Amino acid sequence: MFGPGITPYLALAIVFALACEAAPFLRRDSQNIHVWNHDGAVEYQNSSAVAAANVRGSTFYSTTIALNSEPDVFYNSFVYMSMPRGGKGKVGYSTEDGAEYASSAQMSMSWSTFLYGEDAWVYVSTLDPADTISSANDVTIRPTTRGFTKQMVNPTTIRIFVPYQAQGYRFSVEFNTQLVTTYNTLSGSGSGQPSTTPGPNGVPIHVEPRNSLLIFAEAIPTGTMATDLIPSTGDIYYPTSGLLTGVEDINHQIIYFQPGVYYMGSNYAPTLSSTVQWVYLAPGAYVKGSFEFQGGASWLKITGFGVLSGEQYTYMPDRNNGLNHALTGKCDSSCLKLFQFFASSTTSPHLDLHGVTIMEPPFNSFVVYANSESDLNQFSMSVSSYHQVGAWYWQTDGLELYANSIVENSFFHANDDVVKLFHSDTSSTNIVIWKGENGPVFQFGWAPRNIQNININGVDVIHNRIWWQDVKVNTCLINHAPSAVDPSSSTTADTSKTIQDLTFSNVRSEGMNMCLIRIWALSNMFNINVNNMWIESWNGMPAASQQSVFHALSDSAGSQVSIGNEVSSGQGLGLSNYRISSTQVTKAASNWQDTAAGRLNFDANLWENWNAF
Ligand SMILES: *[C@@H]1O[C@H](CO)[C@@H](O)[C@H](O)[C@H]1NC(C)=O
Repeated sequence: MFGPGITPYLALAIVFALACEAAPFLRRDSQNIHVWNHDGAVEYQNSSAVAAANVRGSTFYSTTIALNSEPDVFYNSFVYMSMPRGGKGKVGYSTEDGAEYASSAQMSMSWSTFLYGEDAWVYVSTLDPADTISSANDVTIRPTTRGFTKQMVNPTTIRIFVPYQAQGYRFSVEFNTQLVTTYNTLSGSGSGQPSTTPGPNGVPIHVEPRNSLLIFAEAIPTGTMATDLIPSTGDIYYPTSGLLTGVEDINHQIIYFQPGVYYMGSNYAPTLSSTVQWVYLAPGAYVKGSFEFQGGASWLKITGFGVLSGEQYTYMPDRNNGLNHALTGKCDSSCLKLFQFFASSTTSPHLDLHGVTIMEPPFNSFVVYANSESDLNQFSMSVSSYHQVGAWYWQTDGLELYANSIVENSFFHANDDVVKLFHSDTSSTNIVIWKGENGPVFQFGWAPRNIQNININGVDVIHNRIWWQDVKVNTCLINHAPSAVDPSSSTTADTSKTIQDLTFSNVRSEGMNMCLIRIWALSNMFNINVNNMWIESWNGMPAASQQSVFHALSDSAGSQVSIGNEVSSGQGLGLSNYRISSTQVTKAASNWQDTAAGRLNFDANLWENWNAF
């Protein structure tokens, strides 16, 4: 009854499920639930790449959903799994790729997406008999503020009540038995090394599940949402599942991937025909490949609850090297992005990106190119219910928010800058972030900029494995890195440029954390507000490694950028209600210093330019 490749754990779980559930598992859709599977195309293994036509099913978890109104009818919701490097190792290179630690620690990331239209119970079973629980308290839901009811069903199953809401919910389900502590061994004089064992001098960095499970509960689109997000009429092309070739010759407006597995191979990355404006990945569509859109159209869409996976590509697949690994260490523009766009000067393209899960990006995941900054500023996007998983390599950042763009109700696993705030008039709301080792959560630096009106509100960083002992310039929760051209120079500023009205509100970071904010100001800065920042705790690193810094750099003629006065007029860098656990950090309480709770080591000459209150 079980095909080859099914692990004994899974077999046990199926037998258990059949024996215990009164109603059979259903795979049909009811009006208020939509689940899917990949029958006949699943490999349950965690040791190597899966075959091109297959998807990797989780060897650690299974999920079933029951609607609260029909609690005895169970729907299997497929659990995907991502492994470092897609299980294929280093293909065509032996140098560092950023996945070393996750790979040696045998980490994986499983996830399941389902669509719902009313309150539901999500049943999560562990397939590894070692993962038993004795009460619901042995499982943590993150963000911890979700407040979902959870109940132990049996020693390997928990159920979680997920109320319906139109924005959906994205959360992590963590069995205590899966928790692993990452240490920095503090070996050598530089950054140290991450390790699962502390060694003689090691200190803890962070605790997270070795084999994680994310649940993406998303609302079934209805009404005009459905019309906007699901193509029903028009010039639609339906590719055949299996090997995709000649994608650039699809001269239609809409490419509609129906449920099934599609793959492009490791050396193919098509540029879509200029006719293509909409790529739809239906729930249950799984495409191994990438899409480069041409400029020209006034609107673009990427929608559906399917998956775009980079698993077949090697790390840093370079267009200048036939999509084999980059010959030189750098390939910022020539390395493949799973989603790539071009903003032309003749139109103002607006992209709707909704529902899609992007998995195992081999480099930056999403970039828009243009011939000039003003052309680039023509490109805007609305992003919601977007998920990024399996970001194991360096450079796997989240999203750059182009001018007049919003991102909301999304999840990012990223191993570099997660949200890049390089353009004006953007908002980021209700986002869950799982932070890897490299880069900060928010990045607004690297070059002098004229930007304003940037709002971040409601971000839950549920894990943060930043571990560097030395004071890196591109790290922490919030970062304005120095000039990318010369990061060690203090004369790279441009006093004609100004960053103003940048507000981070209600950012929470759970568990152990490395550092709050590092700013090397390359532009004038006014009204940079950090409101209600909450950090659960600092990690075990020396305080010197955790310091926040604030420097105002000068231009080549020696003129320093201007920073607003915060103390007298509230126009500089304001930290209001900044808390570590339950301790509020304020100037008045004198607990802001680098060795005190706040870990702030701001330049003394900026004393009037910042405040904590
Ligand atoms: C594969 O799964 C087994 C069983 O849970 C686990 O012991 C092992 O560490 C995993 N291997 C990798 C490479 O993740």
